[in-house]
Amino acid sequence: MAKRTIVTMPGDGIGKPVLDETIRVLEAAGFEANYVQGDIGWEFWCSEGNPLPDRTLKLIEEHKIALFGAITSKPKDEAFAELAPELKDKKLVYASPIVSLRQHFGLDICMRPCKTYKGNPLNFIRRGADGGVEEPMVDVVIFRQNTEGLYGGVEWSNPKGIVYDALMTHPKFVENFGHVPAEEVAVSTRIFTKKATYRILKAAFEHARTYGYKSVTLCEKPNVIRETSGMMYKMALEMQKKEYPNIELWNTNIDAQMMWLTKNPEDYGVIVAGNMFGDIASDGFAGLIGGLGFAASAQFNSDNGVGVFEPTHGSAPKYADYPVSIVNPIAMIEAAVMMLEFIKEDAIAARIRQAVAEVVAEGKVRTYDMAKMRGTAEVVNKGAASTKQMADAIIAKLK
Ligand code: NAI
Ligand code: MG
Repeated sequence: MAKRTIVTMPGDGIGKPVLDETIRVLEAAGFEANYVQGDIGWEFWCSEGNPLPDRTLKLIEEHKIALFGAITSKPKDEAFAELAPELKDKKLVYASPIVSLRQHFGLDICMRPCKTYKGNPLNFIRRGADGGVEEPMVDVVIFRQNTEGLYGGVEWSNPKGIVYDALMTHPKFVENFGHVPAEEVAVSTRIFTKKATYRILKAAFEHARTYGYKSVTLCEKPNVIRETSGMMYKMALEMQKKEYPNIELWNTNIDAQMMWLTKNPEDYGVIVAGNMFGDIASDGFAGLIGGLGFAASAQFNSDNGVGVFEPTHGSAPKYADYPVSIVNPIAMIEAAVMMLEFIKEDAIAARIRQAVAEVVAEGKVRTYDMAKMRGTAEVVNKGAASTKQMADAIIAKLK
């Protein structure tokens, strides 16, 4: 069989070291592939005025599967200030390349597993009824709608003309905001479509059925955000009743969920939510299993077969220029494992996951976050493993 080609997009900051180490792990595990690098990130915004050049989109279109490190985003004014001088009069506006990537390829399903590794010193613990310490096993998979809602980009500051007129047709706008001058108003919309809502619900229920989770929890706020969350809840009820009668549908509000996740996280299985609440819920649950060094994310479109796999952390600029990279590569390695599962390389995926589990359980090799140190360049002289040493330890455990 021809070797597969994987598009690698290291991006900015720590994206590069974690991706380099992940490719070493993939190769050591016997995954045979060619890698082509796709340009993405701040550097390309500054030099070309586009953080996601067309040539990168073409590469992904051709090869379908991509591993992405992380990018740096900065606010509007800072972004403009850093543009190359010759680009400054071109009316360019910075847009997050990862959000653009999701929209360009319709990567509407975002999946974020949060599963406890035994022996991880960062695991959530709580006090039990007898006063003793309990360490519940968390095994949650968050399905986040990835292209709509509050990240849809339909926004206005100082809404004018027909936009303002349209807002004024709503009695609540007239009542609550009608007296406020338009220049003091900013509006971000939260648009949900039935098609995308159906697809994310379907992906969540299918995952629950395939992997034996007993419940799907819809984590929204239908009592207040009646149109969008309300529509999603109604569709979830119908889907559960018609197609998944053996899976329980639970309904939690995002705010209450954030409180409950530290009380009984082991009770939850699959969680499904719109874009913003899915983002919040996944960071919340990630905190119970080790935080950003462990949280990975898959985003894909099952119709066109495009999948982009990434750690959920960002570019951590403060650690980017250390002579020896100190960050934990496990989140990126986990993302690569999800990629392997997506392309049906299950045996290699299982081998890597097992090796990671053994390294964590053994506890001899720990990056600074696992060693509970403050992240400075010196941690590697104080017993913390570097990014590379963690990858080496995982490679040594591969069977
Ligand atoms: P961040 O995720 O880059 O870093 C936050 C903190 O988490 C770090 O200072 C570090 O203490 C810890 N951390 C992150 N990754 C880690 C790892 N692999 N191992 C150990 N510790 C780790 O988020 P921050 O500082 O809010 O944003 C930095 C830049 O990244 C910003 O420009 C932001 O826009 C961007 N960003 C990009 C994302 C992406 O590419 N998908 C996601 C989140 C932020
Ligand atoms: Mg996030």
